[in-house]
Amino acid sequence: MREARVWFGVDYYPEHWPKSRWKVDAKLISKAGFNVVRLAEFAWCRLEPSPGRFDFSWLDEIIGELAEKGIKVVLGTPTAAPPPWLVRLYPDILPVSYQGHRMPPVARRHYCPNNPNYLKATERIVRALAEHYKDEPNVIGYQIDNELSLGDEYCYCQHCIRLFREWLKRKYGDIDELNKAYGTIFWSHEYGDWTEIYPPAPPFDMCNRGLALDWLRFRSESFIKFLELQAKIIRSVSPDKKITTNLMGLFPGIDYYELSRRLDFPSWDCYPKFCHADYDPAWVAMLHDATRCMGKDRSYWVMELQAGPTDGYHGHPIGVTPEPGELRKWAYQAIAHGANGVVYFRWRTVCFGKEQYWHGILNHDGEVNRRYLEVKCLGEELRKISDLIAGTKYQSDVGLMFSYEALWATLIERGYYSMGYHDQVLSLYKGFWLRGINVDVISPNENFMRYKVLLTPFLYLTSKSLIKKLKEYVHNGGILIATARTSVKDEYNRVYSDGLPGGLIDLFGMKVTDYTYLPAERKANIVVDGKVIRAVGWLEELTPSSAQVLGVHDYKWLKGKAAVTINRYGKGYAVYIGSFPSTDIANHIVGALIKRGIIRPLVRIEGDHLELTVKEGSDYKLVFLINHEERNKSVKLHFAKAFRIKGLLKGGTSHGKENEYKLKLNPHDVEILYLEE
Ligand code: GLA
Ligand code: ZN
Repeated sequence: MREARVWFGVDYYPEHWPKSRWKVDAKLISKAGFNVVRLAEFAWCRLEPSPGRFDFSWLDEIIGELAEKGIKVVLGTPTAAPPPWLVRLYPDILPVSYQGHRMPPVARRHYCPNNPNYLKATERIVRALAEHYKDEPNVIGYQIDNELSLGDEYCYCQHCIRLFREWLKRKYGDIDELNKAYGTIFWSHEYGDWTEIYPPAPPFDMCNRGLALDWLRFRSESFIKFLELQAKIIRSVSPDKKITTNLMGLFPGIDYYELSRRLDFPSWDCYPKFCHADYDPAWVAMLHDATRCMGKDRSYWVMELQAGPTDGYHGHPIGVTPEPGELRKWAYQAIAHGANGVVYFRWRTVCFGKEQYWHGILNHDGEVNRRYLEVKCLGEELRKISDLIAGTKYQSDVGLMFSYEALWATLIERGYYSMGYHDQVLSLYKGFWLRGINVDVISPNENFMRYKVLLTPFLYLTSKSLIKKLKEYVHNGGILIATARTSVKDEYNRVYSDGLPGGLIDLFGMKVTDYTYLPAERKANIVVDGKVIRAVGWLEELTPSSAQVLGVHDYKWLKGKAAVTINRYGKGYAVYIGSFPSTDIANHIVGALIKRGIIRPLVRIEGDHLELTVKEGSDYKLVFLINHEERNKSVKLHFAKAFRIKGLLKGGTSHGKENEYKLKLNPHDVEILYLEE
């Protein structure tokens, strides 16, 4: 939804409060400047109190109250919480654990996405909802389900097993093809019939790697199909309504990039301080950049933004309370990375059920409080600059690849590597984040030819088509930067048998001829141009054919052997780093790219660090600056060219066109600079 406004809202549960309160809520919500509210994603038992009997009257009423104040609505389809009557009628909708136990219906997400009875019930409620609101202009779109897969539940019911076998049959055609692909001769697993195949049981690293990977793919596709079923119904009934779902950053359960192709725009649930009093803002920034890139046209929302202290969860303590300025800062961070909707979770803290301490903007008592006043000020601010923000786009010359297939291959071997997939991607990302360089976090299926630089950290698994694309990319002039353990596995999750990096030896002009795991307590360095750089996690000896050596190891028997190489390939370059990406390595990469003029940042900050992103408008730019630390910051910004500069939030201005701008920011404070050439 790219529109001439920023959607700003709250997740509201009117069904948790007496009707007498609804008017008060609508008034307060509107006074805070919110223009959208998400409703009903857990209200199945009220929308369909008994099989086939629908009651939308209460929802109509609250939509009406909100509409009176000019507030629009996103409706959740309620399938994340099947009602008790449905479980009573069809107990087989409950997911089955590997041990054969049905999950008890005591929390939520107690359904199997492949169960025919569940699919029927889903179709019925979604169709009824869509039909009822098809002509309601105040309903602008739907959120399908809620956090579709948490990533650690696997259903082993008879339907899932049957469909998995059918899925395999479609993929391999012939059982012998599957035997070959998996290498089932290992431990005597050669199958003679599809019905002999069982899904892998956790821990997956005890199972055949090909089978385990296909199971994760199948599971991801099952949820995508479940979403598609709902999306199709909504689109057929009301094609003008937008469709989204709330993702969770880069959770492993579903390939979010694939899933998002079915949406009008993705959204995600952002809780910076959940479980981490001292969280890393770069991690949050990276998840924004990833979700944005999942969107077909790069638009996305935050459907749940932390609004207060979080609840305890699975042994985690209750979260620390967001400090003054943090709620505002988190919203601006989302906008800085391209979000065009920011919705706080939740409006008011619930007094019963689970999540009694998952705080909303209002506390349990429903009174105006510090957090409310903060978002209200933000609402006023946003109203003034909303058009300017909505007219800009986040763009980047740098693509950072996040491959779900590589992630899954590493998760199947959980614990094999001291630095996990997400951490490695983050480490490289952070090098760019620290210098304020925009980054797109993209999937391997993206058309990445347009990026000047493509980073592929820990690209553990590659397919034939990806290998071809990477070569084409470099051949056409791209700069590819890869790190240790690139292309170790093929698409069947087997180690390449003709040398590493598998299928890419000619692209990198070198071969990995020796390697070692590097435990955290062992220190190792790489020397580049006389500069000592810290290596982490894994070391590889690279033996060049056509590549030039940029850096060498300084570690035991590897001392003096090639650690970093660069290879000219067609019009571009392929760089390989024989270590996992340490912070040091990430900094060095960014430094080298800037020094060589490959990346030309618009702004350089002198003094302290601030988060910085740039968004492009038709004839202006916006520079977002955020102070994530708890101390005052004083910086000087150096621009690559002279601009007329105006501070949109703090009101500073340059005198005429200038290359420099001075700025002070208090803890958690934000500034947006408006630049005109
Ligand atoms: C998630 C869910 C919400 C709520 C919050 C707080 O992100 O989508 O329904 O449970 O977390 O736990
Ligand atoms: Zn199942």
